[in-house]
Amino acid sequence: MNLALVFLIIIINNLRLFAKGTEDANAAAGLGASFIFGDSLVDAGNNNYLPTLSRANIPPNGIDFKPSGGNPTGRYTNGRTIGDIVGEELGQPHYAVPFLAPNSTGKVILHGVNYASGGGGIMNATGRIFINRLSIEIQVDYFNITRKQIEQLLGEKQARDYIMRKSIFSVTIGSNDFLNNYLLPVLSIGARVSQTPDSFINDLITHLKAQLTRLYQLDARKFIVGNVGPIGCIPYQKTINRLNEDECVALPNKLANQYNERLKGLIAELNKNLPGATFVHANVYDLVMEIITNYEKYGFTTASRACCGNGGQFAGIIPCGPQSSMCSDRDKHVFWDPYHPSEAANIIVAKQLVDGDTKYISPMNLRQLRDLGL
Ligand SMILES: *[C@@H]1O[C@H](CO)[C@@H](O)[C@H](O)[C@H]1NC(C)=O
Ligand SMILES: *[C@@H]1O[C@H](CO)[C@@H](O)[C@H](O)[C@H]1NC(C)=O
Ligand SMILES: *[C@@H]1O[C@H](CO)[C@@H](O)[C@H](O)[C@H]1NC(C)=O
Repeated sequence: MNLALVFLIIIINNLRLFAKGTEDANAAAGLGASFIFGDSLVDAGNNNYLPTLSRANIPPNGIDFKPSGGNPTGRYTNGRTIGDIVGEELGQPHYAVPFLAPNSTGKVILHGVNYASGGGGIMNATGRIFINRLSIEIQVDYFNITRKQIEQLLGEKQARDYIMRKSIFSVTIGSNDFLNNYLLPVLSIGARVSQTPDSFINDLITHLKAQLTRLYQLDARKFIVGNVGPIGCIPYQKTINRLNEDECVALPNKLANQYNERLKGLIAELNKNLPGATFVHANVYDLVMEIITNYEKYGFTTASRACCGNGGQFAGIIPCGPQSSMCSDRDKHVFWDPYHPSEAANIIVAKQLVDGDTKYISPMNLRQLRDLGL
């Protein structure tokens, strides 16, 4: 072989190695994967594959979601969810893929999997009115499957290291345990028939603790757990209770606060008792309440009217769908539909979680959590 050619081959190979080195360095700098557990606030399409009444794969949901060209994807908002935006901000190469999507196989799972399900809750019975949804327990069962797939892709030791150090586990759940369980009218299937708030909330905390502990047993170490937002201020609650613009329904907010107090205790306890784990607490309640109370400061024109929906003074009764009326200024509404924030509101929340201070995210923010132990 001609000597020049040999040199050329050596140079090309070195260039390749160099390129691969920078790729690895980029991967080391950003977040490896996010594994997303939760409800419709972060569902990225799982319910599309379930026989369920809780669905968002109908227009105009997703109208501002660029990767789909504005087509619905199963996200319960006009654009990106908080989970999508957080992943982007932390340098994840693509959004976590829905576990139930048939093409969520092979290497794509290495950048994260989303198990969240509209209507899902901490308790198995939550969301029964939708016929089907994934409760947190089933979501953790599914992660156990993903865990084995990652092992097959990376090998046992590398998989463990990747999950422990390069992955963030986010848990956004609890709203449905109140809205679609405890607070349902007595004649239906809500737990209120038989339980005091204290006893119900105690069950929630016990069950959530068991599921977070299971994730830890599967090598999860970096967690973010959100508390329940001001569910008494969503257009649905305000509409059915015939409130004024600046009022919120007392009971749902009271229950949320009661649960949130217990959740804070649980997170402190897990930080103390599970060696090597870091649980970050996201104070979604105070953050969303701040946006609702001072909506004008954040560039919104309303924090009470749903952009997409119908019925009552806040368009808060009938969920968003092709027959709904839709506002023209979507990023001027805190709420996209009767239940869910708009992308504009999600962006504000996500940025606080990633780079905010301990008022809303403690003991550290997600950028610090990502870089922990690297
Ligand atoms: C899976 O299929 C959906 C729907 O066709 C598509 O939008 C998505 O990009 C695909 N995902 C992957 C990881 O290929
Ligand atoms: C919840 O559902 C799962 C999956 O169907 C089941 O294995 C589990 O026993 C149930 N838990 C409770 C507390 O009912
Ligand atoms: C994960 O699945 C295996 C069976 O494949 C089971 O033995 C193990 O208990 C499961 N782990 C958790 C935490 O559920």
